[in-house]
Amino acid sequence: MWSGEKTTAESTTKESRQKTLLWDDDGGLCQRAWVEIDLAALTHNVKQLKKLLSSHTELMAVVKADAYGHGAVAVSQTALQAGASWLGVATIPEGIELREAGIEAPILLLGATHTAQQVKAIAHWHLQPTICTAKQALIFSEVLAGLNQSLPVHAKLDTGMSRLGTPWQEATEFVQLIKRLPNLRLASIYSHLATADSPDPAVMIEQHQRFQQAIEQIKIAGINPPRLHLANSAAALADPDLHYDLVRVGLATYGLYPASHLQSRSNLKPAMQVKARVTQVKTIEAGTGVSYGYQFIAQRQTQIAVIGIGYADGIPRNLSNKMQVLVRGQFVRQVGAVTMDQLMLDVTDIPDLEVGEVVTLLGKDGEYQITADDWAATLGTISWEILCAFKHRLPRVAVNY
Ligand SMILES: Cc1ncc(COP(=O)(O)O)c(C=O)c1O
Repeated sequence: MWSGEKTTAESTTKESRQKTLLWDDDGGLCQRAWVEIDLAALTHNVKQLKKLLSSHTELMAVVKADAYGHGAVAVSQTALQAGASWLGVATIPEGIELREAGIEAPILLLGATHTAQQVKAIAHWHLQPTICTAKQALIFSEVLAGLNQSLPVHAKLDTGMSRLGTPWQEATEFVQLIKRLPNLRLASIYSHLATADSPDPAVMIEQHQRFQQAIEQIKIAGINPPRLHLANSAAALADPDLHYDLVRVGLATYGLYPASHLQSRSNLKPAMQVKARVTQVKTIEAGTGVSYGYQFIAQRQTQIAVIGIGYADGIPRNLSNKMQVLVRGQFVRQVGAVTMDQLMLDVTDIPDLEVGEVVTLLGKDGEYQITADDWAATLGTISWEILCAFKHRLPRVAVNY
């Protein structure tokens, strides 16, 4: 869901606090909780990333999983306007959503597809499939012949990820087959890196060498690959030698770095902020337990604020008692178990907090910022998973466009 309402980012000024109290008259913000997507930050990120690329390298915005939770249509439109020329999705319905929104840019299906029904849908919606095996190539060719249609296809090599793709040692026969089959037009040859975000480049270098060797053999066999690509966000930031003709950038588009050692390579801005409102404020006495299981017991008389967002919205329950949020530009401790739709804060140090005020769970308020990296570090996971976890129950609200 994309509200499309124009709003300005919340700040900590008295005026804006009052504005957030207008429950019935604030457009897309008339919600207990929502996700703000900063379209100017997306534009900035794409432009920053383009600066790293040579003029012949194109940028694919990877917008699978609803653009990593940011809203696929708005992100795609924004990224294309900012200079991306390809989109990458994982599934056919994700591609259809973009086509139905009127997006005409080339869309690469990064996932595998096999059935006749899938081939027909791909052809109908002008999506571009990844071909991972000879068997898949034969199925596509046969179904497309029946439709009297041809399709651009992308040959995927496995150079060490051990996920999709034909083993790099068999690349030449595989690509020769694709070239021979009627109705398939080889649009690119690509592979995916397993450890591009590691400070130790050894595996990435090995995968790159395998890719280079495979391409060399393909060229010796007389095939001139029309387009080559290898880099995800980490590789795009790490090494221009990995850029080839196209980089497939997901995380960095959304303003996050795949690893801290890559932060100096570009100046990116997180595009997502997660906000919720105070729904009740109360005083509890020392010794009083909070939430399921009493994981928190007040040590002093405590002001508790109840916030209208919970694990069913995508706040990881494992952050219970471990997270901080921003209230009026100050860090505030979350206390007790995160529940399905609500969580509690210790707001003893925030005077006169009112129902309806806005709390920032992820994002910036005043001087301070909480990022998906902060949550990921606490949880021992990656920022990709944090971003993708926000549910559709939270409306996506566009800001700064
Ligand atoms: C094949 C492929 N290319 C590119 C990407 C983008 O990766 P990142 O978000 O690290 O840029 C992904 C994401 O998982 C992917 O599966």
